[in-house]
This record gives sequence, structure tokens and C-alpha cells, in this order.
Amino acid sequence: MLTREMIDLITTYTIGCVATVRPDGAPAVSPKATFLVLDDWTIAFANIRSHGTVENLRQRPDVEVDFIDPFSRLGCRVRGHARYVLRDDAEAVLRTKFKEKWPDLYDLVHGIVTIDVTEAETLTSPSYDVGAVVGQLTEHWLRRYATALGFAVTKQADRSLFDAWTR
Ligand SMILES: Cc1cc2nc3c(=O)[nH]c(=O)nc-3n(C[C@H](O)[C@H](O)[C@H](O)COP(=O)(O)O)c2cc1C
Repeated sequence: MLTREMIDLITTYTIGCVATVRPDGAPAVSPKATFLVLDDWTIAFANIRSHGTVENLRQRPDVEVDFIDPFSRLGCRVRGHARYVLRDDAEAVLRTKFKEKWPDLYDLVHGIVTIDVTEAETLTSPSYDVGAVVGQLTEHWLRRYATALGFAVTKQADRSLFDAWTR
């Protein structure tokens, strides 16, 4: 089951790296940034131009997805079984969710991959093994990315996610 923290992460960042298996048994990992959480046991992403991932999942529906919060260095690994439906064959409620969240992309969506979650595991950076604190780590990475992008960060990040994730 997805925890509240996992749902928040997926909903906020929306990007997951989707691991599938190719026909020859080799791994394939591909980023998808249109993830939606449908409920505690179900997530979905849009197939816009993911022919390889969709074909792999049609043949071998077992899938794993990693989601990362690049600031707090917390994440989750979600395992499950995928189902694929063409966009116009999807239930109206599912189509509406994608249309509302991704209005600019919706016309490009060929279909929707829904993943029934079987396992969900918290991932933490080894930085936490050597004493990192979530607020400091978040601020550190926020500053680093902001500096790289030419922005100034003035507000101190104040988060206590780590306790919630690891309790
Ligand atoms: C940050 C990022 C987000 C992406 N999100 C999606 C997505 O949500 N849906 C999609 O179909 N393609 C998405 N793509 C594009 C696919 O990952 C890309 O077309 C890839 O080559 C597909 O590989 P595949 O056919 O093996 O799945 C995204 C790419 C990047 C870099």
C-alpha cells in the first residue's frame, strides 16, 4: 500500500523511472512524468511516446517504478502489475483525471498505463546513515539546484519528513 508520504511525493514530483523487461530479457528503464495516484493501491501514467515500455508491459506486466524527491533525498520503490488501455477506451473518470492534470498534453496521449501496486518500499539516501537531517538536506539541495539555475534561495526549508517516512 502507498503511504501518505509516498502519495505526496508522487503527486508533487509526478516523475517516476519505470523498469520493464525487454523481449530478450534485458532491462529497460524509462522516465515518465505524468504519474497520477488513483488510490492507495493504484497509480497510472500516460503513454505519449513510450512504445517500448508499453509493449514490454503488454507482454510482461510486472513492473517496478522508482520515485525520488531530489531535495530531501527520500523516495519510494513501487512494484506492481500493469494494465494498458487506449485513451478513448479508458473509463471516463480516468480520462478526466488526466485531462485535468495534463491539459496541454492530453491530445498527445495514446493510452494509459495503470499499475496495481503489490509492494511499496521507502528509499532513503545513505546521507541519513551519517547523520543528515531532512530539513538541512532539503535546504542544501535546494540551494545547489537553485544556484546552478541562477536563483537565490532565501527561505530556510523546514521539513520533518524523514521521521514520517521511517516511522
Ligand atoms: C522527464 C521526462 C518525462 C517523460 N514523461 C513521459 C510520459 O509521461 N509519458 C511518455 O509517454 N513519455 C514520457 N517521456 C518520454 C519517454 O521517456 C521517451 O519517449 C522514451 O524514449 C520512451 O522510451 P520507451 O519507448 O522505451 O518507453 C518522458 C521523458 C522525460 C525525459
